[in-house]
Amino acid sequence: MEKTFLMVKPDGVQRNLIGEIVSRFEKKGFQLAGAKLMTISRELAENHYGEHKERPFFGELVNFITSGPVFAMVWQGDNVIATARNMMGKTNPSEAAAGTVRGDFAVSVSNNIIHGSDSPESAVREIGLFFKEEELVNYEKAV
Ligand code: CMP
Repeated sequence: MEKTFLMVKPDGVQRNLIGEIVSRFEKKGFQLAGAKLMTISRELAENHYGEHKERPFFGELVNFITSGPVFAMVWQGDNVIATARNMMGKTNPSEAAAGTVRGDFAVSVSNNIIHGSDSPESAVREIGLFFKEEELVNYEKAV
């Protein structure tokens, strides 16, 4: 079963959008396999966003993502990585379609409410950074 890492960023948590966002992915038909409300350390933030290290906005990105609690999640289902990216909308909310999370709730590229893995490799890496294997549920074993 394909899995992806999604995270409600500090702006989304502060604006009480956790329930709205979880609801969208539940209604779509995906399964929540793990979740936690947490504050990200600078070390974890720099690791998670390592591919952006040379970008001029890297410092701002790390400051923002560590500025308050985030809601980290693992979701599973058919084509969940690409479908979740479509449901999130374009990174820049001014280009994100209405009906997407960013299109409906965000205006700023740095404060854009949600993060989602962009490839199978990123999903494995990001899930591993945020979750231990035993923190994820296995629905196949549930009675
Ligand atoms: P995310 O999907 O979490 O991955 C990298 C993040 O960098 C992205 O969302 C944006 O929030 C952020 N980002 C991209 N471009 C800029 C920018 N020009 N200024 C600030 N943040 C940016």
